[in-house]
Amino acid sequence: MKVADTGIALREILKNAPRPVVLVPTMGAFHAGHISLMHRAREIAGSHGTVVTSIFVNPIQFDRPADLANYPQPLTSDLATCEAAGVDVAFTPSATSMYFPDRSVTVTESLLSSGLCGATRAGHFDGVCTVVLKLFLLSGCDTAIFGEKDFQQLAIIRRMVRDLDAPVEIVSCATVRETDGLAMSSRNARLTPAQRADAPRIREALLESSTLETLEEILTAARSAIEASPLTRIDYLSLVDAETLQPTHSLDRPAILATAVFYDDVRLIDHVIIHRPLTHPTDA
Ligand code: PAF
Repeated sequence: MKVADTGIALREILKNAPRPVVLVPTMGAFHAGHISLMHRAREIAGSHGTVVTSIFVNPIQFDRPADLANYPQPLTSDLATCEAAGVDVAFTPSATSMYFPDRSVTVTESLLSSGLCGATRAGHFDGVCTVVLKLFLLSGCDTAIFGEKDFQQLAIIRRMVRDLDAPVEIVSCATVRETDGLAMSSRNARLTPAQRADAPRIREALLESSTLETLEEILTAARSAIEASPLTRIDYLSLVDAETLQPTHSLDRPAILATAVFYDDVRLIDHVIIHRPLTHPTDA
């Protein structure tokens, strides 16, 4: 496995790399979810193509300085994980090599990012779009792989690719969960044992309430199930249209029940998709 720590070095390594070039953009601190993305990348690239994993804790997508400062960065073990997962090139740039101090161009998505994490994390998706476009341009990738846990991020990146004609195919992979249902996240490692034991309630609350009849019942039940724990604070809990990500007023179309929950300063997200088949009156 080759390691590039600047964009120039990455371009040099990938200049004549066998195609397809498949990129897995990450912020490191790998768990089984990341490894599933790397395995999918290897499948798509085949034995001849090139798998690139970027490991970059992108400062411009963090809205809270403490979240950035506490983000785990176990680079040595991450590189070993990449190697074991069959990655050909790891890209590990520093923030100073990625961003000019006077940078003045940002990629902004203005519709899908208006609610959910976009509403409570100012500038987050501008930071994500900007770095992801830079990673596409630096790697010249044909395909890029993202996890479905960050469904809003995935939708926004697909929109960016569509609206800016980026020649990159976006592939998504299912959320990987712990055996108790908690969605894997690099932030889970920062939970105390009591918080970790409590955290599966997020998923349970979403799943159980999602079977209820009306929007109001779903939101009320999910809120009270999450808030039943004294350890949690809800950042948001929303029911949105699965396509537009705007608040929905009907379950006739696929919807997403999504939440972000704080345990102290550790913020976790999860969601469920609600897809009700339309019921037709049976013929008499
Ligand atoms: O999902 C992530 O880990 C990050 O948001 C990404 C896509 C690597 C951009 O920094």
